[in-house]
Amino acid sequence: MKATAVAPSNIAFIKYWGKENSDFRLPLNSSFSMNLSETYTTTTVEFSPSYKNDDVVFVGGEFSVRETERVTDALGKMREKTRTHSYARVKTKNTFPKGTGIAASASGFAALTVAGFAALGFSLSEKDLTIFARLCSGSACRSIPDGFVLWEKGDSSETSYARSLYPHTYWDLSDVLVIVDAKMKKVPTTEGQMRVQTSPFWKQRMQKIPERMKKVQTAFEEKNFSLLGETIEEECLSMHEVMQTQVPPLFYWNDLTRKLMKLIQTWRSEGLPVYFTIDAGPNVHCIVEKKHVALLQEKLQTVSGIHAVIVNSAAPGAHVIPQHLW
Ligand code: DP6
Repeated sequence: MKATAVAPSNIAFIKYWGKENSDFRLPLNSSFSMNLSETYTTTTVEFSPSYKNDDVVFVGGEFSVRETERVTDALGKMREKTRTHSYARVKTKNTFPKGTGIAASASGFAALTVAGFAALGFSLSEKDLTIFARLCSGSACRSIPDGFVLWEKGDSSETSYARSLYPHTYWDLSDVLVIVDAKMKKVPTTEGQMRVQTSPFWKQRMQKIPERMKKVQTAFEEKNFSLLGETIEEECLSMHEVMQTQVPPLFYWNDLTRKLMKLIQTWRSEGLPVYFTIDAGPNVHCIVEKKHVALLQEKLQTVSGIHAVIVNSAAPGAHVIPQHLW
């Protein structure tokens, strides 16, 4: 009745911002992401008939009431699905600060899903694991399959799931993640997404997504790095344009975020092929091919105010490991 899983966070190249159905977390559009090797969650889950309630421990920090509720809700859904009555003990730890735009809910709910069902000895296909994780947090479904992952929008809970388009070994891409601020973000993504339709630009963004998705897929087929980079930068800016014009507006960037965005353009014009993407937080994900990581790191060393730099490569999806957290 005890199992442990590791799940990577992921960075979306084509992003998920807005839901068609919030109860089932059906997204407005399909999205595509890369699993990250160094920013991951490890979670141990143990169910026992002797436990009187669910107990959730976050190593090295604390969960808010809302976060704890999301975990116990997920455990409740797991019990329902497996017809179990036992409560659970959950211990979870991240390799990165949560709430800073590194998708902690993605790796967190992917690890919880995989560890939880394994602890219950309940075997689910990868597709069904991604569907369960999606119900807990949309982006979590993309942290279960290997490498570069497509979350098909679908039109029902059964058809909205994630699958690997390319294994993590397919392309030597790196995400050099620049942490510019390690504090909690103020507006959680679930809340922010509820107001997407108040932006005058959300429809335009939706119209562009299929074309961008195609470009990203072509870039992958051809390993065309500049096509990939141009498309993901455009996509990132279009999501932030929607965020910033929602009512009330959401500003996730700070001064250092903007400075880095400009520097990346400059470095590119000087011959370093690097592009940025940013999620719901101020940190900047610099996407480069592995052969250019060292030069990018040198450039980043000249920028003051950076909290930390984490060099990620593409990673496998969530999986069970034999060592438990207790
Ligand atoms: C900006 O998956 O955190 O990172 O489904 O409400 O839990 P919920 O939202 P969440 O949203 C992630 C938004 C994003 C873009 C992305 O990862 O695609």
